[in-house]
Amino acid sequence: MLSRLIASDYRNFTRLDVDIPAAGLVVVGENGHGKTNLLEAVAYLALLRSFRGARDADVVRFGAPAFHVRATLMRPSAYDTISVGYERSSRRKRATLDGVEQPRLTSALGALPSVQFSPADVALVAGGPGERRRYLDVMLALSSRPYLQALQQYRAALLRRNAALRIAQRDGGRGAEPEARVSVWEPAMAEHGGFIAAARHAFVRDHAARFTQLSAAIGERHTVAMKYAASGGEQAGDLLTDARAQTEAYTRTFAQQRPHELRRGVTLVGPHRDDLPLSLGGRDLRTFGSAGQQRSAAIALRLLELATLRDAVGHPPLLLLDDPFAELDLGRAARVLSLLEGAGASQVLLAVPRVEDIPAAFTRLEQRSMHDGMLGVTATREPA
Ligand SMILES: Nc1ncnc2c1ncn2[C@@H]1O[C@H](COP(=O)(O)OP(=O)(O)O)[C@@H](O)[C@H]1O
Ligand SMILES: [Mg+2]
Repeated sequence: MLSRLIASDYRNFTRLDVDIPAAGLVVVGENGHGKTNLLEAVAYLALLRSFRGARDADVVRFGAPAFHVRATLMRPSAYDTISVGYERSSRRKRATLDGVEQPRLTSALGALPSVQFSPADVALVAGGPGERRRYLDVMLALSSRPYLQALQQYRAALLRRNAALRIAQRDGGRGAEPEARVSVWEPAMAEHGGFIAAARHAFVRDHAARFTQLSAAIGERHTVAMKYAASGGEQAGDLLTDARAQTEAYTRTFAQQRPHELRRGVTLVGPHRDDLPLSLGGRDLRTFGSAGQQRSAAIALRLLELATLRDAVGHPPLLLLDDPFAELDLGRAARVLSLLEGAGASQVLLAVPRVEDIPAAFTRLEQRSMHDGMLGVTATREPA
């Protein structure tokens, strides 16, 4: 849990220093004043990057050389303090836990686990496969060190195989030597890619029914379903969650695809090309779902993430609610609220444009106003 946050030169905060009560905090402010920036700064401590996918250089306050985000934590967090800083000129990012600089950034990953709910989450459902892969990767990496390591190793090998493929394509793609420079990365990709694919399949196998239930509980009348779609064609059912079988399959597929990929200059098959397609009554939710239905499915995905992180970490993650009920009808908003409450007591940071937008369940929380990157004592509205 978070007890104090200090954000320096982060987005539109010159220096924001806020005590966070154990139950949480509501931030009220008009559009563009820094509410999402505040939630983003908190999530930065979990992900070590922007949850909006912004580049580090872009979250540094305009004209400033560097940003710092520091937090004081309390039980049940494993650490007392965490800090992250990024310097524009050197492009260096550093993280400390309890004041000790981490030799590897990833050691600090997940020290303050959080899950965010925001209208922008609709991209999880309506956006491309990359959005859903990122959803799976962030959730699984924060829940499992071996997954995080496999992901890093896979990405490193993929980058180098793609670089070799690009060179081979430029040079005409013929001959044993360029091919050897490509194939040398395949054992690592097959090993780590196999682990990643098996873990994602296992997640979908274990959580697909829950996802369908959550969608129904939010108020969806038709069946909402998820499945895992591998880019390299499917194997027989039981093998899907077996990392060794996945590795063997990738070993064959990478070799088979190689001649084609030497011409194309890019790796076309692997977990980096897979998807998590969602359906509504058997039809693609991305194409046929209404905005409200897509928002609801995105919320069900976040609720699933919340439960997964809670189970992995042993306590509920911090909830970052960014105007979460915008565009939802009242019935759905009420059901989402009760599902959130059912997910277990946890600290909440809620951002809303107006005091009237605070759901009754959160009116007991301390309120602060956000104006031009500065927090006020109480949530008073600007005179019209
Ligand atoms: N790197 C940056 N430096 C300074 N200001 C920034 C930076 N990035 C975004 N902003 C400002 O932050 C504001 C948006 O804040 P945001 O938290 O998204 O608003 P909201 O309160 O609506 O959630 C905009 O005014 C934008 O100009
Ligand atoms: Mg916002």
